[in-house]
Amino acid sequence: MIVFTVVSTKGGVGKTTTTANLGALLADLGMRVLLVDADVQPSLSRYFPIAERAAFGLTELVKSGSLVPECISTLALPRAPRRNSELNPDGVLDIVLSDAPEGQLQDWLSPRIDRAVRIRTALGAPHVRETYDVVLIDTQGAVGHLQDAAVLAADTLISPVSPDILSAREFTTGTLELLERLEPSSVFGLTVPPMRAMIYKLENTADSRAISDAIREQFVPMRGRVSVLRTIVPHAVAYKRSATEQIPVHWLDPQRAGRTMHQLVWELIPSLEGSWALACEAFAASDEFEEARHE
Ligand SMILES: Nc1ncnc2c1ncn2[C@@H]1O[C@H](COP(=O)(O)OP(=O)(O)O)[C@@H](O)[C@H]1O
Ligand SMILES: [Mg+2]
Repeated sequence: MIVFTVVSTKGGVGKTTTTANLGALLADLGMRVLLVDADVQPSLSRYFPIAERAAFGLTELVKSGSLVPECISTLALPRAPRRNSELNPDGVLDIVLSDAPEGQLQDWLSPRIDRAVRIRTALGAPHVRETYDVVLIDTQGAVGHLQDAAVLAADTLISPVSPDILSAREFTTGTLELLERLEPSSVFGLTVPPMRAMIYKLENTADSRAISDAIREQFVPMRGRVSVLRTIVPHAVAYKRSATEQIPVHWLDPQRAGRTMHQLVWELIPSLEGSWALACEAFAASDEFEEARHE
C-alpha cells in the first residue's frame, strides 16, 4: 500500500481535482483506492456521487485513531468493464468523508501528544494495508494539526504549483516552512516524506513556459526535499467540467486529459507504466497517440 498526500499552503491550486482524478484513474486501472478527505471544506467528499454513505467519517478516523468500516463510504462511478486489468479486475474507489465543522478537529488534536501520527496509525493497521493498494489524502491549503497529520501519514507528498511568479515564490517559502516545521518530528522516528511538485494549470504561453522552467531552477536549493514531476497538467476546461459533471477527467477527455493523467500515474507508480484505463485504450492504440508521444 502506498499513501500520497496532496498538499499546498495555498488554496485553489488544484489539490482536490488532482486527488479525485488520480483516485478515479487508479481505480479504473484495477487498483483498490481509498480517498481521505482531510479538508474541513468537503469538496473531495462532493466530487463524485456517493453510492453508500457511511455513518462516520474523518472525525471518527482521527478520534479513534483507526479506520473502522463505519468510516468508509463507497463512491458510485458508473463502471466500465475492465478487461485489461489482471491485477484486480474490480478496482475499488472508497472514501472517508469530511464531516468535521471548521476548527473542531484542530482543537481536538491540539493538546494530544500523538496528534501528528493519528492518521498514520489508522492507515498503518494490517487490515487497511491488506484492503487497499493506494490511499490518497486531500488537505486544506493552510497550516494546522490536521494537515501535519496528513503530511506525516504519507509516503510521498504531491504539491501542485501554478506557473506564475507569485505562486512560485509563495510555493518556495510556504513549502520550505512546512517541511522545516515538520522536520523536528524525526526525534520521534518520523520522516517528512519526499515532495513531488507538479506544475499545474500551465497556460499555453511563452511566459508560463519560461516560468515553469524558472520553477525547476528555483528548486535546486531544495534538492533532496522537493523534486519537480516531469508531468505538467495544463489549464484546461475539462478539469472544471469533471467537477461539475462528477465524472473523472480521463472519461470526459480521454485524449488530452486522459494522456496527462496516465503520465502522472505512471510517474508516481512506475509499475503501472503502460497500463491504460479502458476509457483511453482506443486512443492509446491509435496513431494519434504515437504522434503525441513523440511531440
Ligand atoms: N487543470 C485545470 N485547468 C483549469 N481549471 C482547473 C484545473 N484543475 C482544477 N481547476 C479548477 O480550479 C479550481 C480550484 O481547483 P481545486 O482542485 O478545487 O483546488 P484546491 O483543492 O487546491 O483548492 C476549481 O474550480 C477547479 O475546477
Ligand atoms: Mg480542495
